[in-house]
Amino acid sequence: MLRLAVLASGGGSNLQAIIDATERGEIDARVVLVISNNSDCGALARAGKHGIEALHLSGRQFPGQAEFDAGLLEALAEHEVDLVILAGYMKLLSPTVVKAYRNRILNIHPALLPCFGGREMYGMRVHQAVIESGAKFSGVTVHVVDEKYDHGPIVAQRVVPVHQDDTAENLAQRVLIQEHKIYPQVIQLFAENRVRVEGNHVRIHSAG
Ligand code: GRF
Repeated sequence: MLRLAVLASGGGSNLQAIIDATERGEIDARVVLVISNNSDCGALARAGKHGIEALHLSGRQFPGQAEFDAGLLEALAEHEVDLVILAGYMKLLSPTVVKAYRNRILNIHPALLPCFGGREMYGMRVHQAVIESGAKFSGVTVHVVDEKYDHGPIVAQRVVPVHQDDTAENLAQRVLIQEHKIYPQVIQLFAENRVRVEGNHVRIHSAG
């Protein structure tokens, strides 16, 4: 049973999809901790409803980055977390945290990386940029987290069509449906120990 910590800043629909998959027994994992930098976000409320420990951890509670990192790493260690799941978490993790959980932190991005990612590319901005680019396809990317925003070896992607009359909101909804499917699937690959990171490449080994 893989022990997950989910870090989220917003509504937490991806968190919910993961919790639901664990409760339905579809994935061999359990969310043991939810952490947010935002005390009144939907993600913390969702955790509470499911009896999952919810922790508000913000840089403002600590004198500096090193102390914040220590607080975060302590919470992860206390809960014996195997895999850290970023699901709409708006903060860049420091190199200290990335190093401590190297290849064991995942992020989901609502477009096909390496396009339409980076520091300013979040929320509706991503979908707006895709539409403005004239691209016919967008999608979802789950990747291993490294020291940069929306960067790191890609574990899985799903393609989502862009319709010619799409608004950013329509596209976001279509993409989100795929996000909710792919994240639990990727977590299950980790639960089955089938994922190997080799440089910039992620290899998925066959089951059994
Ligand atoms: C998702 O679109 C995810 O790809 C991005 O942030 C959004 C979070 O949505 N990183 P939610 O809070 O899971 O509903």
